[in-house]
Formats: sequence, structure tokens, C-alpha cells
Amino acid sequence: MCGIVGYTGYREAYPVIIKGLKRLEYRGYDSSGVALLNTGLKVYKKKGKVAELEEDVIGKDLHGHIGIGHTRWATHGEPSDRNAHPHLSNSGNLAMIHNGIIENYVPIKNDLLKKGYSFKSDTDTEVLLNFIEDIQQNNNCGLEEALRIALKRIVGAYCILLISKDDPETIIAARKGSPLVIGIGKGEHFLASDASPIIEYTKEVVYVNDYEIAIIRPDELILKNLGNEKQTPFIQKLDLELAAIEKGGYSHFMLKEIHEQSETIHDCLRGRLLPEVGKIMMGGIENHIDALKNAPRILIVACGTSWHAGLLAEYMIEELCRIPVEVEYASEFRYRNPVIHKGDVIIAISQSGETADTLVALESAKEKGAFIFGVVNVVGSSIARLSHAGAYTHAGPEIGVASTKAFTGQITVLTMMALKIGFAKGTITNERYLQLMNDLNAVPEKVAVILKNTSNIERIAEKYKDAHDFLFLGRGYNFPIALEGALKLKEISYIHAEGYPAAEMKHGPIALVDENLPVVFVATKDSYYEKIVSNVQEIKARKGKVIAVATENDTVIPSMADDVMFVPDADEIIAPLLSVIPLQLLSYFVGIAKGYDVDKPRNLAKSVTVE
Ligand code: F6R
Repeated sequence: MCGIVGYTGYREAYPVIIKGLKRLEYRGYDSSGVALLNTGLKVYKKKGKVAELEEDVIGKDLHGHIGIGHTRWATHGEPSDRNAHPHLSNSGNLAMIHNGIIENYVPIKNDLLKKGYSFKSDTDTEVLLNFIEDIQQNNNCGLEEALRIALKRIVGAYCILLISKDDPETIIAARKGSPLVIGIGKGEHFLASDASPIIEYTKEVVYVNDYEIAIIRPDELILKNLGNEKQTPFIQKLDLELAAIEKGGYSHFMLKEIHEQSETIHDCLRGRLLPEVGKIMMGGIENHIDALKNAPRILIVACGTSWHAGLLAEYMIEELCRIPVEVEYASEFRYRNPVIHKGDVIIAISQSGETADTLVALESAKEKGAFIFGVVNVVGSSIARLSHAGAYTHAGPEIGVASTKAFTGQITVLTMMALKIGFAKGTITNERYLQLMNDLNAVPEKVAVILKNTSNIERIAEKYKDAHDFLFLGRGYNFPIALEGALKLKEISYIHAEGYPAAEMKHGPIALVDENLPVVFVATKDSYYEKIVSNVQEIKARKGKVIAVATENDTVIPSMADDVMFVPDADEIIAPLLSVIPLQLLSYFVGIAKGYDVDKPRNLAKSVTVE
């Protein structure tokens, strides 16, 4: 949450920062701002998206070779011009941007108020900044030392960038819990929350670790820990192309990412799934196969869409590996003192690899001796680095705030995992193993078939776009997909939607059904098919409108449904990779029909780095 960008070098900083902020807007878009240093320190900030800031600064002095910029997802203080970052210290000497939350800011603020400090915003960031300034003045020390002292006294999460009028070439940065990447150029350095603002200028980057402070000048990068000891920066080469973070002719990132899925699933399988020789090559699993196959229990920890992938993994792992699985919301897991035994395996699922709740849950589980396996999309992210082992989803950068291709990447990895562990454990037959491998291998082609013509889904979206509520129902492997369909619709169209196991409907939600309620059934041909046919009839008997995701060539469900979205036939374990695609498109088209910004739904941010 919140995107930060910094630049120090020979170029004009403003264009680099604005372009970077636009790339990071998925992290929050409540307000944005920049601070530039040349003869003086200038700060421009504005409520709303980066485009509004750009318009607001037309004609203003934007010159400067050093600057910092911020796009905000509000935590402390409503979205407004005055709560936008950067903030200035009381002396006007320092400017700072911050991604995170300072939990103990109230007593610090009270102390500073007693000392005569005043605050222009309601943010915890302005408190931290003045706290640093106060320490600097009282201890008569440099900014770096003052920052170090302040960071030892605050509680919370942060990635901060700080500039000072007294040192007009230097950015001081620090991180704990919120991500920071530094791009290394020739005579210039770039800083950002992720690599997307940097990729255009350099591929050499350093991922800053928690509790590190970076002192960055055009020709110099110094990394230290909070004990003031120098650390050796670990320089990595980015494996990312600029095209991957651009829209590539699509009107929205969400649509582009939905359409990329045939390719991203293929990329995820490539070199790993080898049905012709009956093998699945996944180093992260092979190297730890004993820990995985002998695990007394597997706990899956995730949030949101990633949690839905986890639920699906529970069904797969229990069926194919016969290991008991529990799926946990990271935010609950981290606070409820869960029982974790040595030998328990934790699978962490995260697109961003930075979700604060998931990250902290893993840290405490790791301390208790659990083995952590990360299923992560963003390479080099915090969760990837914290895991003992893992497998990347290889979906490429996901910019649309609603997760689509990362979800199918997660399911693809988790299916391969379940197959590989089950085979090693002897809990699936050779025949079933090979059949599921072949079915999984056929998924990219089948996804392409669904995406070839989406006009029917667009028509259905137009027909139901004014509904106030939706129900999404599914059984077995299709139940997590019903949950995911409901979440996508809520996020993108702001229509209230609930997902339920189809049979659970009779225990309450059926009271909602009338002629105005669209009910989406994920009703592909599987072992529950007869049961779901009965559930559809129960809805029709109450005049509900039925929209079904059905298997190609099925005639029974289409004869009962008001509208149908077909998907190719597949084994029930593999089918969710197909049945989710029409639901992603349905929410996209409803959002578009209602005139919403589907890439940046209100109140959301892609990378939830606060609790
Ligand atoms: C929904 C969505 C969120 C994320 C959740 C976890 O479309 O994107 O629900 O799935 O915030 O994020 P990650 O996977 O980055 O940990």
C-alpha cells in the first residue's frame, strides 16, 4: 500500500518520479505528491490520482535533480491535499514520504506538541518526520544518526525516503515491513516500492532488507543496519521487460491480464510439467520432499484471492496426498496463538509477496519451527525471501488491482505440488497421476478457447449490471471458484455479492432469492453434477435468475439456466482453472458497463502492506 519513488542523479527528477508513480498507482491512489530539491525544497501534492497532481503542477517550477514522490492509500487521515505526502518538517528543512504505519505515533505526537511542534496533517508520517528533526536538533547529530535513533523508538512498519535542504544530493531511505528496491545506474540511483518504475533505466537492483538504512547519492549507495554497521549490497539482475508492465493495446490492465492467462499458465508449467516422461520438476519440492510428504499437517496461510487458491489446494492436497490441511486467513492466524508443531508445513500464498498479515504470520510460524513453503508471484519479494523453499507462479507483473492471472498461476503451482507430493507418497495411482498431468497440460489451450470470443459474457454483464445483489454457488472444487467470482464482482462493480457452497444455500441465503436476484452457478460436469442440478432447480422454483458456468455440450444445465457461459470439459480437479475465467470476465464487463475504473477500484490497493 502506497507507492514510493525517489531519484538522485543527472536527469530532471520530476518526469522520472511522475512516470514511476503512475506505474505504482495500483498500490494506492487516494492522493499523490512530489518533493524536489534545487535551490530550495519544493513540495507539490494533491488529493486524487497522479493525473490530477500532474495537472495541478502545470506552470510550476519542477526543476531539480533529486526528488521523492508518493502515491497514497490512506491509513491515518482522510484522503486530502494536506494529508498527501511528502510532508515537510516544522523547520521546512526536511521532506519525507512513508509507506506503512507508525503504531505508537500518538504519544510521540503528544510529546512533540508539548515541545511546541505543530502539525499540518493528521498523518503518522508527519509525526515521525518531526520526531527525527527533534532528535537531530536535541542531539546535535546528522540526519542519518537521528533517523537511526528514531527508528529504534518507533513501533510499526515503514519504508521511508527522506531528503534535506542541507544535503542536496542525498536520499536517506529505511525499511521495515514495506518494500524498497534501489536501481543502480551510472551516476544515478532510483528508488521505488517495486521494480516497475526502475526497469526502464537499469536492470541492476538491490532489494533493501528490513532494519536497513540506505544512504544514496548519484555515485554512491551505502547500506547499513540499525547498529550503524555497513552491509554489502547484494546486486541482482531484473528479469523483467518493460512491455510486461504496459497495457499492450488493451483498454485496461485487468483485461490484458485476463487475456494473458493462456500464456501465463503455460509459462508456469513450462519446464516443470513433463507428462511425456511422467515427471514434475520443481526444485523447491524435490529438495524438501521428505518434509512435505511426511508432514503431519499442512497449514495454508493467505488473504483474499490467494486464500481462495489456498482453499482449492486444501481440496487437492487432501484428496491426492491424504495430508490434513487447514486454510487460514493470515490476519486471524497471526493473532490467535495457533498451535504449530515442529514438522508442520506452512504454505504461504501471495501474489505480491508483501502482504503484511501474511508476512508477519509467517515470521512467527517460522520462529515456532514450521517449514515455510512460499507460492509467490513477485520474484525477490519479502515472502519469497522469508520462505525455506518455494515455487514462483511466473505470471509476470500483475498491475490490475483485482487479481486474475496470479490466481490461475497459484492454482497451477498448487496442482503440480499436490500431484508431485501425492505421487512421491504413493497416495495416487500412476494412471491418475498421468491423466491429471495431461489434463493440466491441456489447460492453456482450453483457456485460449474461452477467451476467443467473450461477447456472450459481455451481453450477460449488460443484462444484469443493475442488480443490487448476486449469489455465487458451487460445490466441491467449484466452491472456491464461487467465492472468487463473488469477490471479483464486489471489487470491480461494487455490487454486493456472496459466495456459498451450493448446498448451504438452503440454510439461509435462499431467503434472498426472488425474481430480481441473479444466482451464478459454477456447474461444470463433476462428481457433484446431479446435486447441483437439483440446486439450480431450487433457485428456479423461487423465480431466481440463473447464470451458469457449464461444460461445453452439456444440455441439462443450459436447459434450466437463463444464461450460460460455457467452458471446455476437464477433470474436476483441473476445471477451476477454466471455470474462473468467465467469472473474471463477467466482473470486468459489469464494471465497465457501470463506468468504473476497473484497474483501480475504489478504496483498494494491490499490495496490502499494512495490517
Ligand atoms: C483480490 C485481491 C486481493 C489479494 C489479497 C492478497 O482481487 O487481489 O484479495 O488477493 O490482498 O494479496 P497477495 O496475494 O498479494 O498476498
